[in-house]
Amino acid sequence: MLEKELLDEIRELAFRLSVPIINDESAAVLAACVADAAKRRFCGYYKSPPLAEYSADGKAAEYSADGGAAEYSADGRAAEYSDAPPCFRILEIGTGIGYSGLLMSEAAAAAARARAEGLTGPPQIFLTTLELDANSARLARGFFEKSRMAESIRLIEGDAAEFIVMTDCKFDFILLDGPKAQYEKFRPYLAELLNAGGVIFADNMRFKGYVGDAYIRRKHRSIVTALRAYTDNIKADGRFDTVEYAVGDGVIASTKKSLIK
Ligand SMILES: C[S@@+](CC[C@H](N)C(=O)[O-])C[C@H]1O[C@@H](n2cnc3c(N)ncnc32)[C@H](O)[C@@H]1O
Repeated sequence: MLEKELLDEIRELAFRLSVPIINDESAAVLAACVADAAKRRFCGYYKSPPLAEYSADGKAAEYSADGGAAEYSADGRAAEYSDAPPCFRILEIGTGIGYSGLLMSEAAAAAARARAEGLTGPPQIFLTTLELDANSARLARGFFEKSRMAESIRLIEGDAAEFIVMTDCKFDFILLDGPKAQYEKFRPYLAELLNAGGVIFADNMRFKGYVGDAYIRRKHRSIVTALRAYTDNIKADGRFDTVEYAVGDGVIASTKKSLIK
């Protein structure tokens, strides 16, 4: 089965079961952000493209969007050479039934392949995805098994709050699409788990428009408060370049900067 057909199948099931999946507009922005981050991650290894491509302010000589490529280089020349192919690691909080996870894996693989011209070996894309609900996890697992990315997907059934404080793994892209009331609590941990050049992509930041309302109903208060605090604090965090997109339910993409020494 082609990956696109698999994504369509997941989408159909999500609509039938009324299971939430990322909105189409937000999914398009998500795929573009993943592709950009993957290109940055692989650009050192594949010796393309100029960093200026990724610099909005023309300060490419100061800031590198290379995803911590120095990790692969003994002489500090990671932007030019590397022996081992780098990995692109995605963390997803809130698997649902697997739609956004597969979408991200595909977008990253396609972007990495585009950078891999003339080189052998498949791009190394890994997805770790966390889901609390057993039934959603079961359905997602079934879809992942049908995917050509199956070998590189790890679904962990459990509370993301426990995983993010325990793991010592680093990631190049984080999709935050789980418990909205916890976004602000998760933020400092996620900031640490992200490699330089990586992105934290948070979905549902407008929460059906309630985040912009002056009066907040009691039942929405904890979520709205957390989403507002997340937005204010990530925007104020000098380690990140943060962009808000007015698509779908509102998304925020925060790219971690790195300073070339
Ligand atoms: C909006 S849905 C995810 C949709 C999915 N990302 C997609 O677009 O295909 C949010 C998911 O987060 C899960 N979730 C909620 N709290 C969680 C937690 N503490 N840890 C892990 N998953 C959680 C829910 O069970 C639900 O399946």
